Amino acid sequence: MKKSRAVFLSLTVVAGAILPVHADSFFTDARSLERKKEVAPVASETYRKGCGECHFLYQPGLLPEQSWRKLLDAKALEDHFGENAELSDNNRLAILDFLVANSADKSNYKRSKKIMASLKPGEAPLRIIEVPYIKRKHNEIPEDLIKKNDKVKSLSYCDKCHQQADKNNFDDDTVNIPGHGNWTW
Ligand code: HEC
Ligand code: HEC
Repeated sequence: MKKSRAVFLSLTVVAGAILPVHADSFFTDARSLERKKEVAPVASETYRKGCGECHFLYQPGLLPEQSWRKLLDAKALEDHFGENAELSDNNRLAILDFLVANSADKSNYKRSKKIMASLKPGEAPLRIIEVPYIKRKHNEIPEDLIKKNDKVKSLSYCDKCHQQADKNNFDDDTVNIPGHGNWTW
């Protein structure tokens, strides 16, 4: 009798401890389902300071973990697409953790899933614009509107054309190529 009461009590305690957690994550999932259309809205002040100086602050969900690992290698940052983007080890590792935790292969957001589906297993490009899905989406834009367009210069500057890139939205309805107006050609 004593024993079964003890079992009953401990089961109640266990259930009490677990159930609220389940309930919480259930609601969190239900809420975030609606928002899983684009790329995850995540932010880090260290990331903004370390990586937001020269270009748009790319969402971590635009590349897989292995791409971020290659980009955030200490040596690689010394010659980052021809620029020196060196960081202190502390900041570099904090940024790497942030990028890895939110990378495309760990995300349920639509664009991240499409990015991953377009890559071969283990493929880890250093550029977002080399991801097959992203590349394909921009194939038809005439070069004149990018390289010869002083207001854009290269496809890497997502936010020049994607007016809501900083709000994690890349929908084609929100595109406006500078000097060209709407993007139909
Ligand atoms: C000193 C300037 C500078 C800093 C700081 C910098 N970058 Fe860059 N980054 C560049 C340049 C230049 C390019 C190439 C742009 C081009 O080809 O037009 C680039 C390109 C990239 C690309 C490829 C974009 C694409 O798809 O073409 C990624 C990803 C990237 N940077 C991530 C980072 C991360 C992460 C950090 C912080 C650790 C960082 N950058 C800090 C200058 C910088
Ligand atoms: C020169 C302007 C320009 C730049 C720079 C640019 N894009 Fe785009 N992007 C477009 C246009 C135009 C489309 C629509 C293409 C179409 O639907 O035919 C598009 C489409 C997309 C789409 C698909 C949208 C949809 O609704 O299917 C994604 C995702 C995207 N871009 C991401 C990016 C990212 C990430 C970057 C930066 C690494 C970037 N783009 C840079 C012009 C640009």
